[in-house]
Amino acid sequence: MNILHISTSPRGLESDSYRLSQSIIACLQTQQKYAGAEVRERALWKDALPHVDSEYAVSLGSPEASEESEESEAGGNAACENAMQQLNALQRSELLIRELEAADCVVIATPMHNYTVPSSLKAWIDHVVRVRRSFAITPDGKLGLLRDRPVFVAIASGGRFSGETSRQPDFLRPYLKLALATIGLQDIRFFSMEGLAGGVGVAEMEGARAGQELQAYFRERRL
Ligand SMILES: Cc1cc2nc3c(=O)[nH]c(=O)nc-3n(C[C@H](O)[C@H](O)[C@H](O)COP(=O)(O)O)c2cc1C
Repeated sequence: MNILHISTSPRGLESDSYRLSQSIIACLQTQQKYAGAEVRERALWKDALPHVDSEYAVSLGSPEASEESEESEAGGNAACENAMQQLNALQRSELLIRELEAADCVVIATPMHNYTVPSSLKAWIDHVVRVRRSFAITPDGKLGLLRDRPVFVAIASGGRFSGETSRQPDFLRPYLKLALATIGLQDIRFFSMEGLAGGVGVAEMEGARAGQELQAYFRERRL
């Protein structure tokens, strides 16, 4: 079994979303199916992805250009992993999609930035949601081409975005849900720690509450 762990907060290992995602992974590993699962790290805060470029945009916009780029895509194999910055955008896209395809389960750690995902995660989405590769356009709309698998998302936010006391919109969960569903990942579950800017003790309280929610969820859901 293979868990892909994508972490995105600029605060890295110290971030609350990262800590919450570690708890999710620990819970997963108590499940028979994921006992001893290998965790593959994709730390976008450490190895930031460049924005997609003009060649990538042109290629996605025209099937012919996409075919021409097949050769350069083939060069983007896992051996190039250490030189992510040296790959062109299509090669990076191919590497990241293959990494996703190889995962049995995905855990994403993300803070809320300006009501939605941080730009590091948006850059990853722009690389993996790729027409004619991870989704197709059909007369009925977009069709995801990747096998569905469980996706767990750990969110940390300064304010609250759910419940009666929330005072801000939430474009993070609906957006991420739609972006992942576009490529075929429908089985998505969110856990959050909210209101962390609320002062002393809030992070501990939210951590404890989220921990209980996680325990309850994994007691009921046998993966
Ligand atoms: C650029 C930026 C934008 C932010 N935007 C929001 C926001 O829209 N809503 C919110 O509740 N918190 C916002 N925050 C606060 C973070 O979500 C909060 O500090 C969170 O706990 C960080 O989680 P982390 O430790 O995983 O990075 C923002 C923080 C930054 C740096």
